[in-house]
Amino acid sequence: PDHVGILALEIVVPYTYVNQTDLELHDGVSKGKYTIGLGQERMAFCSDREDVVSLCLTAVSLLMHRTRTSYSNIGRLEVGTETPVDKSKSIKSMLMRLFDNCNNVEGVDSTNACYGGTAALFNSIAWLESSAWDGRLAIVVAADVATYARGGARPTGGAGAVAMLLGPNAPLVLDRELRASHMADTYDFYKGDMGTNYPTVDGKVSIRCYFEALYNCYYLYRKRFLKKFADTNNSESNTQSNTSPKSVLQHFDAIVFHSPYGKLVRKAFTWLTLHDVQLDAKCYDNESNLLKYVNSDISVNMLSELGVIKDTEKLFKKLTAPTQKLPKNIGNMYTASIFGGLISYLLSKPTNEMAGKRIAMFSFGSGMCSSFYSITIRPGAKLETLIDLLQHVPVMLENRQSASTVEFENTLTNRELAYNKAPFEPTSNVDNLFPDSWYLTHIDSTFKRYYAQK
Ligand code: ACO
Repeated sequence: PDHVGILALEIVVPYTYVNQTDLELHDGVSKGKYTIGLGQERMAFCSDREDVVSLCLTAVSLLMHRTRTSYSNIGRLEVGTETPVDKSKSIKSMLMRLFDNCNNVEGVDSTNACYGGTAALFNSIAWLESSAWDGRLAIVVAADVATYARGGARPTGGAGAVAMLLGPNAPLVLDRELRASHMADTYDFYKGDMGTNYPTVDGKVSIRCYFEALYNCYYLYRKRFLKKFADTNNSESNTQSNTSPKSVLQHFDAIVFHSPYGKLVRKAFTWLTLHDVQLDAKCYDNESNLLKYVNSDISVNMLSELGVIKDTEKLFKKLTAPTQKLPKNIGNMYTASIFGGLISYLLSKPTNEMAGKRIAMFSFGSGMCSSFYSITIRPGAKLETLIDLLQHVPVMLENRQSASTVEFENTLTNRELAYNKAPFEPTSNVDNLFPDSWYLTHIDSTFKRYYAQK
């Protein structure tokens, strides 16, 4: 099939959030630490009625309803998550309850920290391009509930689910052959302690892993890009000898990063840009404020210097700031975070300006798995459906309920206490959920989970 990619997207977030300014006060940290220091505004969190399964059920049912897709037209369904609720049964299996008598559906869950959604996406795209494809569409859901124990990592939580409908002749096409990965055995963030819902995290190490992964992935992506377009570039430079050459990074209209918190993305952008300057200095002839870094040692510490950040501000505003609205207002959705960035970008400009835009995607999951790939908004494709479907997102974000920090703390403590406990009866009010939401009704004494739709 031609033009395989994303046909439509749907995002679901919990009904409640906490303001990061309130949290700064509550935690007794200096004013601005979470909002300026981490770059976050609001953090979504789940009540005891919401969990990763309910978020996925809502996301898939809304996606199917809004796109008027029949369940019988889905041949593959995959979930990427690092918040499993069962060590054997996949969330994908729990979603099959939506598929009334349409049981011929491949796919299971993918797990590796924040990378599972990307793994699921790559798998489903591969299925669509394979000899096993039977002409039907695929769905990928990336969903997580990110919570941390009390301490420095807690304000970098979040929660949400993004469901994507995939198929041929898509408006968002994954660029063929253009993909690179960096995978290694690290212990920067992991969940080896099965007795708690919180990860063990070494924040500083995880940040170093993130930058190392970003550099290695981009370096390899760039090589593949140059190889693929060697002939085109040669003919381009012959015919357009007056225009300055473009670095690989300069071919993008947007760069979406996995977004644990805004400040990390801001630094990641700087890191990538400075490396690009060093790899292709000739393409930055007109950028004297960047050219001065050609021989610098680009270390993680250097990224905290205000001057360095300032020197990349103009480019950041153009390429990555438009991808940050959802991540800043929801928090880290782990596997769904990068797709929240993609949705932010799609909502950032009028639809008629989107055709032909090229979007870079950097996906990172601790432990670690990472990939750099790209998406082209296919010129001539009908974008209205895709983008119209997303118009409710900013409204939904504003219609959420702001919770007090005490409510936030109590909810997290109650989740801690309820973790691994059966039977369990949630007590929060179903009224405090968006219309059509799925929610947890109870867990019985044998750990079976029961859900209903509002
Ligand atoms: N005003 C403005 N800025 C401030 C203020 C203030 N009042 N106070 C602190 N800051 C700045 C600091 O200078 C620092 O900036 P810098 O990064 O430019 O140096 C920033 O705020 C953060 O402050 P730290 O003291 O470094 O914060 P802390 O050590 O408490 O925690 C961390 C930060 C490590 C990111 C923690 O939140 C964490 O572990 N998070 C989870 C791990 C994570 O998200 N890793 C990313 C990749 S892996 C993944 O996605 C899970």
